[in-house]
Amino acid sequence: MNTNGKDRRKGIILAGGLGTRLFPLTISVSKQLLPVYDKPMIYYPLTTLMLAGIHNILIISTPESLPLFERLLGDGGKWGLAISYAPQQRPEGIAQAFLLGADFIGDDPIALILGDNIFYGDNLPELLRDISERTGVQTIFGYPVANPEAFGTVTVGDNGQIVDLLEKPGNPLSNLAVPGLYFYESDVVEVAAALKPSARGELEITSVNRTYFERGTLRVEILGRGWAWLDSGTHDTLLEASQFAKVMESRTGLKIACPEEVAYRMGFIDDGQLRKLANSLSHNEYGHYLLGLLDSKR
Ligand code: G1P
Repeated sequence: MNTNGKDRRKGIILAGGLGTRLFPLTISVSKQLLPVYDKPMIYYPLTTLMLAGIHNILIISTPESLPLFERLLGDGGKWGLAISYAPQQRPEGIAQAFLLGADFIGDDPIALILGDNIFYGDNLPELLRDISERTGVQTIFGYPVANPEAFGTVTVGDNGQIVDLLEKPGNPLSNLAVPGLYFYESDVVEVAAALKPSARGELEITSVNRTYFERGTLRVEILGRGWAWLDSGTHDTLLEASQFAKVMESRTGLKIACPEEVAYRMGFIDDGQLRKLANSLSHNEYGHYLLGLLDSKR
């Protein structure tokens, strides 16, 4: 087995929580299974991990929702992935994912993505693969937003170094939100285990990042103009995410976050497997699109 960071890195999708900000939509359905235009929300973070070259993925969700994710994604083999599942009995913060995923992580580097986070950008695959191969550092992102008080924020100095990190600051000094995509090494399990719950009773991801910041090993990549980062966790942002996907896909004729296509383009599956997947979806435009990929070899 190749032992460089890229090939060893695993991924976790945190798709738990009660989704109370989306009630009544999420009283009976997990948020991350709701549609974002033409596909379930979880396809977006899943393909982000795939674009980073990650095959081995753990999905964490509530015990009630896990069988539904399993029905959708199976063991991942159809897309050349290895997908496993872990229950989260109670949502106790993003950093809890590392405790629930400790056995899965083992000694390998890990990427964590939140199940409602959507990333879009021209050189996203190259950037993610580059970050995934890094060793000895942890990487977070910074993205300019109009409402930084709603997120974790990062303040960056003129030299690109991190100056401060805060979780939902009342009076933000930075307009850079920290999106829900984080690259760590396996020691994140010990870092998370040492955390105390915050005032809101959660193991905060910002506390994990602060630990690495204080150790001097945390890097930030700024996603500036030309990037889209959307979270789809409220009624408005869910609709905006669907509109974004619809506009981009209708205009270009190219799908965003299509796992079958990403698996094919990344070489995780071959022509025969893509044809099989396309045929099973051939009653609608999604399946026709997949068949078109084979015809045109775009
Ligand atoms: C969480 C994190 C926050 C991060 C955000 C990204 O916020 O606590 O640091 O910026 O995800 O989506 P929450 O979803 O708990 O409001």
